[in-house]
Amino acid sequence: MRVAVVTNQIGDTQLNRLDPHAAEQAEVTLRAVLEALRELGHEAIPVEVRPSLLIDLQNVAPDAIFNIATGYRSKRDQANIVATLELSGIPFTGSSFRAHVMGLHKYLTKFIMEMADIPTPGFCVVDANRKMPSQERLSKLKLPVIVKPGAEGSSLGITQDSVTGDLSKVPGLVQDLLDRFGPPVLIEEYIDGREFTVGLLGYPEPAVLPVEEIVFKEGAMYTYAVKSRDRVTPVCPADIPEELALEIQSIAKRVFEALDCRDLARVDIRLSRDGRPYVLEINTLPGLMPGYSEFPRIAQIAGYDYKSLVQKILEGALLRRGA
Ligand SMILES: Nc1ncnc2c1ncn2[C@@H]1O[C@H](COP(=O)(O)OP(=O)(O)O)[C@@H](O)[C@H]1O
Ligand SMILES: [Mg+2]
Repeated sequence: MRVAVVTNQIGDTQLNRLDPHAAEQAEVTLRAVLEALRELGHEAIPVEVRPSLLIDLQNVAPDAIFNIATGYRSKRDQANIVATLELSGIPFTGSSFRAHVMGLHKYLTKFIMEMADIPTPGFCVVDANRKMPSQERLSKLKLPVIVKPGAEGSSLGITQDSVTGDLSKVPGLVQDLLDRFGPPVLIEEYIDGREFTVGLLGYPEPAVLPVEEIVFKEGAMYTYAVKSRDRVTPVCPADIPEELALEIQSIAKRVFEALDCRDLARVDIRLSRDGRPYVLEINTLPGLMPGYSEFPRIAQIAGYDYKSLVQKILEGALLRRGA
């Protein structure tokens, strides 16, 4: 089979300068996915995202697309790229445009979770009109709160200073994020407790992979600095009672289903001090960098080496061929 691997542009681009760590991840992941596909007997062709993407795909004319592209100008383009893949009519790995839009915009995911009775921290949104929520709304939030970009990833814009117990500090934190990332900005109840992430893999029915705990070596948050310097110890399967693991897994699956995700996704969850899990977000295109990203590491523990992980993800696209 001929498989196009759609990837971020490699080299000195605006996106790579904004997030140098992501640039390296993209390169290493591309190499690993190409190699795995070739070992599986496929013809694997890299296709970098640029404005001619649709035409480039027509020229390559693959049987399926393996999508690892997380952005073009910014990470928000992750969904735009998938929209282009949908337009191409070629089956591709991963979720639909719609699911990516909902997953990338955490506040949309949160609205959907609220409707589906999936526990998520209380929140307010500062949207395109850039107006602060009313005092009445803000005062309904339990303190402290975290102020974070409403549609970024990799913990961009999140530092230890993003958390405050003082509502009078919130407008300043919001303004800073509006200036740096634009709207929307989320003001969210801070869940002070253990952090977990849950991978889901497969189509049409996803398998829920074992729960991983993110144990912090410094601080209590997965900030950009912590993520890029690797200051965490992942523990998988997490050292928690089986009942809690099952509860966390079932919540993760409900988020996956509520957004109608496909093939793979990773759900970030925090446990409050009183033992209740809250979903922070779903990553509809989790990183696949071997030896680094959470998803392949967790998959490995569930018995999928990198090659069989790539095969399992590709299987979804192949099943949808002609569908
Ligand atoms: N409401 C919250 N309560 C506690 N920690 C949070 C909260 N929101 C974010 N964090 C911390 O910040 C990290 C990144 O936030 P997240 O919403 O997952 O954004 P990203 O898309 O950048 O990964 C989380 O992994 C967690 O450590
Ligand atoms: Mg996250």
